[in-house]
Amino acid sequence: MPIQWFPGHMHSTRKAISERLPEIDVVIELLDARLPGSSANPLLAELTQGKPALKVLNKQDLADPELTTLWLDHYQAQAATRALGLDASAAAPARQLVAACRALAPLRGGMVKPLRVLICGIPNVGKSTLINTLMGQRSAKTGDEPGITKAEQKLVLASDVYLFDTPGMLWPRITVEQTGYHLAASGGIGRNAYDEEEVALVLLASVRPRYGHRLQERYKLGDIAALGDEALLAEVGRKRGGLLPGGRVNMQKAAEVAINDFRTGAWGRITLETPEEFLRWWAHGQVLDAQRSARREALTRKKTPDRSLQADTTTTKTGPKPPVEP
Ligand code: G4P
Repeated sequence: MPIQWFPGHMHSTRKAISERLPEIDVVIELLDARLPGSSANPLLAELTQGKPALKVLNKQDLADPELTTLWLDHYQAQAATRALGLDASAAAPARQLVAACRALAPLRGGMVKPLRVLICGIPNVGKSTLINTLMGQRSAKTGDEPGITKAEQKLVLASDVYLFDTPGMLWPRITVEQTGYHLAASGGIGRNAYDEEEVALVLLASVRPRYGHRLQERYKLGDIAALGDEALLAEVGRKRGGLLPGGRVNMQKAAEVAINDFRTGAWGRITLETPEEFLRWWAHGQVLDAQRSARREALTRKKTPDRSLQADTTTTKTGPKPPVEP
């Protein structure tokens, strides 16, 4: 069953970001390098259309370097966009971030036109860690200034480069089924929103085509090609203390082990999706979304014939909002 995740209203975040955006020169979007497509919030793409964007693939120490390069190339090919990989061990992330932001907004800089940058990212991508590192570097936090709420921070990255933290919470949004599973596996959505066994099964299915040999090594398994995902998960449990009295496998325990091993990098550096795969899922998600909207509209029309006429007129006037490609 697809993961249902309703993290609450994003209206205040949307409003706060839109209000801040006119004075922002570059938007940094922090992504999880293991699942760049799934860890992006489509709302942000919608809000920041046209703004120069820096995609930071964080936690690159946990991701497959070859696929990180694929993702960086994918983003670099987009208009007004740059991309770089980063991880918590980077000695001087400010220097890299500042250089990339300056390249995106070459007309900004200097005391008269300081470069203003907004940093965004869904929870758990490592924003606090990065900001703490930046604050520990030569940047300083400034607080009581007009327009800067308590929830919002402004860091001085260089004398003429200011970094603003996103006002409000940019929750992840599940646009396609696979995205939900990848977010759950990485720890990007609340524990109560998913079933661990189901997530572990999808995780193993995602990982085994590219990294099956790592699973074999980790759990000392022979050839796993003939094993189904459930049998593979049972093997994980069998090898990692998940046996119940009578020899049955505790699948819940097996799932916890698999998810934890992925999160901590025990399987090595792994990326769950390529740009090509993600774009395919995303396109499929758009089709399903359109079908759902059409069904809803048809239902509304059936129930309230008069109002449906009004709705039709509005749609014709404004047209449906085009989807923003991730
Ligand atoms: P957030 O503000 O975006 O919500 O994320 P936060 O910085 O709290 O980071 C979430 C988790 O990701 C933390 O681990 C943090 O240590 C880890 N993390 C952040 N950046 C990197 C990175 O570049 N590489 C790796 N490998 N991990 C990173 P945690 O286990 O939740 O907390 P902690 O025990 O490390 O404090």
